[in-house]
Amino acid sequence: MARALLVAALVAALAGHAAAASFTNFTFPALPYDANAMEPSIDAATMVLHSTRYTTAFFTHAATFATRLNDALLTSCKGQGLHKKSLYELNTLTAIRNNAGGLWNHGLFFFSNLAPTGSQTYPADASPALKAAINHAFGSFERFQVAISEAATGVFGSGWAWLIADGRGRVGITATPNQDNPLMGVARTRGSPLLGLDVWEHAYYLKYNNRRGEYIAGFYSVINWRRVSQLYATVLARDFDEVDVLKP
Ligand SMILES: [Fe+2]
Repeated sequence: MARALLVAALVAALAGHAAAASFTNFTFPALPYDANAMEPSIDAATMVLHSTRYTTAFFTHAATFATRLNDALLTSCKGQGLHKKSLYELNTLTAIRNNAGGLWNHGLFFFSNLAPTGSQTYPADASPALKAAINHAFGSFERFQVAISEAATGVFGSGWAWLIADGRGRVGITATPNQDNPLMGVARTRGSPLLGLDVWEHAYYLKYNNRRGEYIAGFYSVINWRRVSQLYATVLARDFDEVDVLKP
């Protein structure tokens, strides 16, 4: 799947642009909900700092990844034939890997994984296919929560915990460091990310300080199960590469 993508397709897929589009026009859209929509699980100040504003180096906000990706592509790709290289080979290009990953991961998180508090619940808003896959893999929703919570808690330093699906529609849990994701060749466990839980401190420190576990517990109240179900459907239809994670 993603392993076979060329860099043009990779970057296009990462940011939802057509493959023929310029490398240097990535932007992070405005959030499709109010900053306080996920209160009290995620506070408004964190939502603003995390998604849009650059204040200090500590707050690596999502919009910055678009700018840095543009810069990295300009300096790294020109004249080097990198458009012919695979995603697997791009693992060595740290600036592209980190910023393309950061842009894609935060796109998924903000636009496809979060829903305003109280707007969606599990199992009511999850598709029958997704619920069946979760039950098959974990035995119950509660066991799924334990598995992804343990993965998120176990990330040493900064990274992400993921619900992923393989090419046969089987779901599982994994974690990646920094801004890597399960689409990358470096990932320990590969698959299509359906749900990403950002456990960088910038995602929770303002409200929770070092209490990552409380942030993780609150995440379950703001999950966009309808969109996660749609993503799962694209995996089953083998259309995941066409997903635009930056589209609200
Ligand atoms: Fe983040």
